[in-house]
Amino acid sequence: MSCLQSWPEPIVRVQSLSDSGMTVIPDRYIKRLSEPPSPVESPPETEVNIPVIDLSNIFSGDDSLRDETLSLISSACREWGFFQVVNHGVSHELMSRTREVWREFFHLPVEEKIAYANSPATYEGYGSRLGVEKGMKLDWSDYFFLHFLPKSLRDQKKWPMFPPSCRELVAQYGEELVRLCGILMKVFSINLGLEEDCLQKAFGGEDIGACLRVNFYPKCPQPDLALGLSPHSDPGGMTLLLPDENVSGLQVRRGHGWVTVKPAPNAFIVNIGDQIQVLSNANYKSVEHRVIVNSAKERVSLAFFYNPNGKIPIKPAEKLVSEDRPALYPAMTFNEYRLFIRTRGPCGKSQVESLKSQH
Ligand code: OGA
Ligand code: NI
Repeated sequence: MSCLQSWPEPIVRVQSLSDSGMTVIPDRYIKRLSEPPSPVESPPETEVNIPVIDLSNIFSGDDSLRDETLSLISSACREWGFFQVVNHGVSHELMSRTREVWREFFHLPVEEKIAYANSPATYEGYGSRLGVEKGMKLDWSDYFFLHFLPKSLRDQKKWPMFPPSCRELVAQYGEELVRLCGILMKVFSINLGLEEDCLQKAFGGEDIGACLRVNFYPKCPQPDLALGLSPHSDPGGMTLLLPDENVSGLQVRRGHGWVTVKPAPNAFIVNIGDQIQVLSNANYKSVEHRVIVNSAKERVSLAFFYNPNGKIPIKPAEKLVSEDRPALYPAMTFNEYRLFIRTRGPCGKSQVESLKSQH
């Protein structure tokens, strides 16, 4: 693992490139895409969007409304791997305050941010690349990555000290999101025909992992040539994304094209990660997504990753394995699994695909 101790070349902050006023972006950021992120290939501005689901319907006491909502979530997980939740119980004020405190963080002078500069050993802190291969193409974004759970990995000294409310807001935000993820884990278990606590138990019960990556996508002078985040599937369990309220950018794979997500007000974007794909024996898919950038506006998003305990082998739930549908994946711990993306950077769905057992 020695290759993971340091970056192979000096780190360039994308925000500094953006602020420099350059009109031509360096080669390193040019993605020679077989499918350029031009608007023509996305469906025209139709009303295509990932499903928006009112989570409060599950608790309404009306059984048919509850069942209908569970079934909407089930279809979203099978057909999209993505949906948005509204009326999810997390304070809207907490959501916007947390997002805005991070926006302020990214607007601090670069000297203050690099006090938190990260290394590929743990990725914690302020970073500008994912993957350690020398000379690899880079994405047009900076980020801040921190561990929330397990508590043994939570180290508030590594979280920003400025703005002063940052640490406390992140702590509150994390608590609320863990609670919401717990609800969604039950919903997914029930929808898969499993015991309601099956997925949570498989993740390690209380002893799960959670981390936050705050993404900052600066303005890009040549947005058609770059990507804010290359196509990837999230390696963990599930992700709750709080997108920028003003600027869209997230695109979700749909067949051969990409659908640009239109964020609903005060919603979280939920997506299935690779670990739930494995546990569900591919009944649920961890769907590829990417982020496009634009020349007019920067964008901030908070991705909260809810993950299995790193040391527990994750494999398809027994109930979902049969003679007709054998286990598609061998057991692997999340600690082993996440090394792949940390070394190679975002690579579409190549990792989870490569796991597939040969039958
Ligand atoms: C991620 C991610 C999307 C976004 O952080 O894994 O997919 O809109 N982010 O920032
Ligand atoms: Ni992602």
